[in-house]
Order: sequence, then C-alpha cells, then structure tokens
Amino acid sequence: MIGLFDRLARPLLHALDPEDAHGLAIKLLKFVPLPLASRDDKRLATRVFGLNFPNPVGLAAGFDKNAEVPDALLRVGFGFVEVGTITPLPQAGNPRPRLFRLDADRGVINRLGFNSQGADAVLKRLAARANAGGIVGVNVGANKDTPDRIADYVRLIECFAPFASYVTVNISSPNTPGLRDMQQAAVLDDLLARVVDARERVAPNAGPVPVLLKIAPDLSLGDLDDVVGIARSRRVDGMIVGNTTVTRPASLRETKKANEAGGLSGRPPLALANRMLAETYVRVEGVFPLIGAGGIDSGASALAKIQAGASLIQVYSGLVFRGLGLVAEIKHAFLAALERERQDNLKEFIGADAASVTAEPWPV
Ligand SMILES: Cc1cc2nc3c(=O)[nH]c(=O)nc-3n(C[C@H](O)[C@H](O)[C@H](O)COP(=O)(O)O)c2cc1C
Repeated sequence: MIGLFDRLARPLLHALDPEDAHGLAIKLLKFVPLPLASRDDKRLATRVFGLNFPNPVGLAAGFDKNAEVPDALLRVGFGFVEVGTITPLPQAGNPRPRLFRLDADRGVINRLGFNSQGADAVLKRLAARANAGGIVGVNVGANKDTPDRIADYVRLIECFAPFASYVTVNISSPNTPGLRDMQQAAVLDDLLARVVDARERVAPNAGPVPVLLKIAPDLSLGDLDDVVGIARSRRVDGMIVGNTTVTRPASLRETKKANEAGGLSGRPPLALANRMLAETYVRVEGVFPLIGAGGIDSGASALAKIQAGASLIQVYSGLVFRGLGLVAEIKHAFLAALERERQDNLKEFIGADAASVTAEPWPV
C-alpha cells in the first residue's frame, strides 16, 4: 500500500515546485488514511535516552515543522518523529523560492529560514495528541529578530517539555544569520547551562525530558573538540550529527542550482556527515548516544550510519527521491545485517567503523 502511495504520489510531487510539493505531501498525510505499518521486529527495538524506540529509523526535523502530522508519520513505520524547528513567535522565513531539488545529485538545498507557525499553535497540536503514544521529539530554535537567543531556547524548553519525548536544541541551521555562532565555546556553554537548568526546573511537573544538541557538519575538528567537551560537561543526553552543510562538493552535477545559498542535504554530503558523526563518536567515548542524519537514501547508507556511530538515524531528503518505502527498506536491511552477523540487535554495529572512518582522507 505504501509502495502504491509512493508510485502514485511521487511523480505528481516531482512535477510541482518543491515547496508546493512539500505542502501537498503534508496534506496527503493529513487526509489520506494510510494503513498501519506492520509491527516492528523485536530485534529492531532499542532503548536510547531512557526512551523505548520500536525501531531506530526517525524522521528528521524540517519536514513536519508545525507538528501537523506526527501520528500519520508514526503510523507509516517511523520509530520516532522530530517536529520543528519551532520558534517562539510565528515567523515567515525567507522569501520564495527557497527550496531547490538537485535531481541529478539526489540532493536538496534549502534556505527556508525557520518558517514556523510559532510555539502557541504547535503547542496546541501537541497537547491534543498528548496521550497518543509514540516518540515525538521537538526541535526548537530562536526567532530571527529576538533580542536574546538563549532566552528563546529556555522558553521553548519550558513550554514543550510536558509534551515532548525529547527536545533538540538546534543551533546549526545555516539560514538564520548568526545562529551557528552559538556553537562557539563560550556561548554554547552558557546556552547549555541555561537549557539544562530549565529542564531541571520543569522536571517535577513535566518529567525529565532528554535534551539533545544538533550540530552542523561544517565544524572544524578543533571546534568539535570544544562542542563535545561542553556537551559532556553540561550533561546533555545526546547529539544529532548533523544538519545541512554550507559546503558544496566538487562532484555536484547541478552546478547552477548548487550556487543557490542555503544548506545542502541528501546524497552529496553523505561522506562529510558520516565523517563528522564518526569524529563525534570517538570524542564522546560512549558518554551519551548519537543520532546520525545526512544523506541516508538506502538500507546500505543507513547501516553505514549506524556503523559510523549512530544509535538512531534520521532521514529527510532521501524520502524526496525514494518515497516512504525507504523506511521499510532500511528496516529490512537492518534485519538482514542481523541475520548475516548472527546478532540479536544492532548494538554491536554502533560505531564499529568509527575508527576506520576517521582514518580516511577528508571527504571533499
Ligand atoms: C527542506 C529541509 C528543511 C529542514 N529544516 C530543518 C529544521 O527546521 N530544523 C533542523 O534542525 N533541521 C532541518 N533540516 C535538516 C534535516 O533535519 C537533516 O538534518 C538534514 O537534511 C540531513 O539529513 P538528510 O540528508 O536525510 O536530509 C531541514 C532539511 C531540509 C531538506
């Protein structure tokens, strides 16, 4: 049924302007009753950040920015869904066009700029589904014109903690000027101190919501040393590696679109994303788990992400080119790998290749 949905919907979506296609995809998920995905094999279940995931395949932030369809996405087989990025106040984001499909490269460039309906609207939706179950993470960011970025994150943690399975502090989007500067050591230390403090403050009522940090794949290794050091000392629960890249690999074939400003995702930055994930994994030394995102568009690339150091994975751009069937394909590939290696779960695979990935020449 999902295969049929993909076969009918994908040609239509590809014929449209990418942002219109995204709007239509959300509407289809809202109004077309897709069947419940078959129950996950027990070997795919995993406990991470104190949460029980039915499978490790998540939807990355940016697809369901306003929490319109998290339950439809869980139904079609995702093990977890991350909604957002949500900003405190509604904001329109950058002018259109701001989303580009690089078909020949299987990549996407976006400079959406945190278009968000704002915290109040999203909070209402999440409160309405509070008892629906399933793991729904909430990704939060600062308003473009805010006088105090850190205060925006604190406010969002306070308001979303009761309804979020976890909260992601997103300081890595390239499309809000200055946002990525929050990855600098002094600012990051202050941010995480105040965010973790907010989490503790609301915990008696909201429960101990895990706090994750989402970073860019464009950090220098020196900066990554600082970021991981601070994340460890401030006791975040995990990191997501990573967001879109502002770099443009020399191999890109869609050279005209490659010049569009914004963050590149999908297949082109796969090697960079895996390298940064492995570099993060070796620095974290098992103190907290990682979510791997960037360039997954097949079962093999998903398994490589686990082997580079991810306990959980997230996909977004791969869905544009492969459809929702990608989720089942990844799960099948994981089960095939378990059979092949005679394992009961994916634990042995996590980070198994991190050392060798970090020894490779730097991906260009
Ligand atoms: C159109 C688009 C919008 C995105 N919006 C967000 C966002 O709001 N917040 C965020 O943290 N990441 C956002 N991302 C980044 C994704 O969550 C993910 O980290 C990145 O795209 C790499 O994964 P992929 O190659 O599977 O797409 C966005 C990505 C795309 C393609």
